[in-house]
Amino acid sequence: AIRYLYYVSRTLLRHLTRSVSHGPIMQFKLSDIGEGIMEVVVKEWYVKEGDKVSQFDSICEVQSDKASVTITSRYDGVIRRLHYAADDTALVGKPLVDIETDTGPEVAQEEDVVETPAMSREEHTHQEIKGHKTQATPAVRRLALENNIKLSEVVGTGKDGRILKEDILNFLAKQTGAILPPSPFHETRESQRPKEVQPASLPASLPASLPARPQPVLSSQDVTEPLKGFHRAMMKTMTAALKIPHFGLCDEVDLSRLAALRSDLRGISEARGVKLSYMPFFIKAASLGLLHFPVLNASLDEASQNITYKAAHNIGLAMDTSQGLLVPNVKNVQLLSVFEIARELNRLQVLGSSGQLGTSDLTGGTFTLSNIGSIGGTYAKPVILPPEVAIGALGKIQILPRFDSNGELVKAHILNVSWSADHRVIDGATMCRFSNLWRQYLENPASMVLDLK
Ligand code: COA
Repeated sequence: AIRYLYYVSRTLLRHLTRSVSHGPIMQFKLSDIGEGIMEVVVKEWYVKEGDKVSQFDSICEVQSDKASVTITSRYDGVIRRLHYAADDTALVGKPLVDIETDTGPEVAQEEDVVETPAMSREEHTHQEIKGHKTQATPAVRRLALENNIKLSEVVGTGKDGRILKEDILNFLAKQTGAILPPSPFHETRESQRPKEVQPASLPASLPASLPARPQPVLSSQDVTEPLKGFHRAMMKTMTAALKIPHFGLCDEVDLSRLAALRSDLRGISEARGVKLSYMPFFIKAASLGLLHFPVLNASLDEASQNITYKAAHNIGLAMDTSQGLLVPNVKNVQLLSVFEIARELNRLQVLGSSGQLGTSDLTGGTFTLSNIGSIGGTYAKPVILPPEVAIGALGKIQILPRFDSNGELVKAHILNVSWSADHRVIDGATMCRFSNLWRQYLENPASMVLDLK
C-alpha cells in the first residue's frame, strides 16, 4: 500500500509539474573556457532545483586549474536539474544545468552558458527586487548576500545607478562604524569579516592570514580522494618542473636599512590605502636586477631549442591561499613604482584569499619569488615554475648579531635567500651575479632610487 501511495504521489507530482511547465527545457552544456581547460570543479551552486532564475543571474561558480569562473543564466526560467553536486568535477561539453524557460516553445533548443572570468565580472546583471530592477555584478550581489544586505537599500553610485562593491562596503562601514581607506581595491574578502571594525589606518580589504595551525584531524580510517582543481595543476606543473636540472644558490641579505626605510614609508602608504610589506621591495629589486640579467627573465621552449627573453617583468609570487599554492604575478614590474607594486600585491592577496584570482593574474609570469618566510622557515629549495627559468625563495627575516663595517657587533635584520635556476640555460656565475645585485639593492635601498624610472 505504501508503495502504491508513493507511486500515485510521484505520478501526480510529475503530472502537476508538467501542467505548470511554461516552455522547453534548455540543457546548458559547459562550453570551452579556453586555455585548454577540459574540466572544472563546481565550487558552489547559487541556485537549487525549482528556483526561478532571470537572465544574468549567477548559477554557479566553477574553478578551473587557472581561474574561478561564474556561470550565469541567459534565460528566465526555472532550474529543473543540476547535473553535479558541489565539489564534483564538471566536464567541458557536458550538461551542467537544465532550465525550463519561460519564453515558450519558440525558443530554440540551443546549448548555452555564459561564463564570466572572476577578474572581468563587469557586465551588468539584473536582479528583481521589490518590483524594480537593481543592477549589480554577481560578485557584488554575493557580497551583499553574505552580509545580509538588501540591494534595494543600497544607493548605487555606478553608471545608471549600478551598485558597486564600494557602495556595499560603504553601506557596511556605516553599519559597523568602520572607516574604509580610499583604496580602489575593496574586494569580497571583507565580506567574510562583516561585523569587524577595522582600524582606520589599515587597509580594510586585506585578508587575514590563513591559520598557523589547522584543526587537528583524528580519523579511524584512511581517506582517498581525487586530486582536483589547483592541486591537480600543482601536481602536473611540479612533475614537469623536476625534469629541469636545477642549480641552487643561497645567500644572506642584511635588511637593516630596508627595515628602517619600510617603517618610515609604511604609514604614508597605509594612509593611501595600501599595506606595505617587504615584498614590493624584493620584487622591485628583482626587476632592477633582471634588466641586467635578462636571461633570468626568459623561457625555454618545450623542445629546448629556443630561448625567449621576455620584455615584461611579470613577477610571480607564490601565495598561500585557501585553495592551496597559487602563483599570481604582478605584471610589468619594470614600469611600476614600489607603491604600485604594493597596491597590486594587496589586490592579488585579497583575490587569492577569496578564491577569486582570474586567469590573467595567474598566467604570463616570467620570474618568481616565494616568500616562505612570511609563514616561517629560514631556508627553502624552490622549484622552478616552467616555462620560467629562475625562482627565489625568501626565508624568515630574523634579528641576528652581525659585525658592521667598523667591526662593531650590531643587531641586523637578516634574510636568507635561496635561488634555483635552470642549469640548461643559466650558469652558476650568472645566478650569483644577479643575486649579488639584488642583495646590494636591498642592503642599500637608497641605491634603488637611482635606478627607478
Ligand atoms: N620574514 C619576516 N616577516 C615577514 C616576511 C619574512 N620573510 N615576509 C613577510 N613578513 C611580514 C610582513 O612584513 C608583514 O608584517 P607587517 O604586518 O609588520 O608588515 C607580515 O609578515 C605579513 O605579511 P604578508 O601579508 O604575508 O605579506 P607579504 O607581502 O610579505 O607576503 C605573500 C605576501 C602572498 C607572499 C604571503 O602572504 C604568502 O602567501 N607567503 C607564502 C608563500 C608560500 O607559500 N611559499 C611557498 C611556495 S612552495
